[in-house]
Amino acid sequence: MPRENCAAGSEAALGRNRRPLAHFIGGAFDDHVAGLQGGPSDLDHVAIAVHDLEAAIEYYRTTFGVEPVHRERIEKDGVDEALIKVADSYIQLLTPTRDDSPVAKFLAAKGEGMHHVGYRVESCADALGRVKGEGHRVIDEVPRPGSRGTTVAFVHPKGAFGTLIELVEEPSTPH
Ligand code: CO
Repeated sequence: MPRENCAAGSEAALGRNRRPLAHFIGGAFDDHVAGLQGGPSDLDHVAIAVHDLEAAIEYYRTTFGVEPVHRERIEKDGVDEALIKVADSYIQLLTPTRDDSPVAKFLAAKGEGMHHVGYRVESCADALGRVKGEGHRVIDEVPRPGSRGTTVAFVHPKGAFGTLIELVEEPSTPH
């Protein structure tokens, strides 16, 4: 029997039970999707706090053969960042530009290492609304500009299992 006929035959054989099953799966799937509205679509970046940005860039250059694709000073946060692209995500190397920067406080308290995780979301406002709607603490009450033209908001690590989470909405025109 040609493959097409075989497939058609299988479909016909399944036909009687297909509708209720598809209906059930469809319903469960719709609920699942509804539950994920505003949820992460990708890992945007892993941020690593370092004392010496140039030394960290050099480490990634010589050890992994990668270069920053973007560098930016974010005055409001008191940080210099270098973004290294890995697949569709970034490693974000961060160093403070002043002593009262949150990253400076982090380095003083905990030393170098992973600082936060950025989840890419379709809408930062929607994702933040969900977090607040669930009664969880946030650092940013409303979305604000991030680097690369992104819109971001931070979720407080207390209530997020010890992880500082950044919700990242990409610019509508990617840079
Ligand atoms: Co970040």
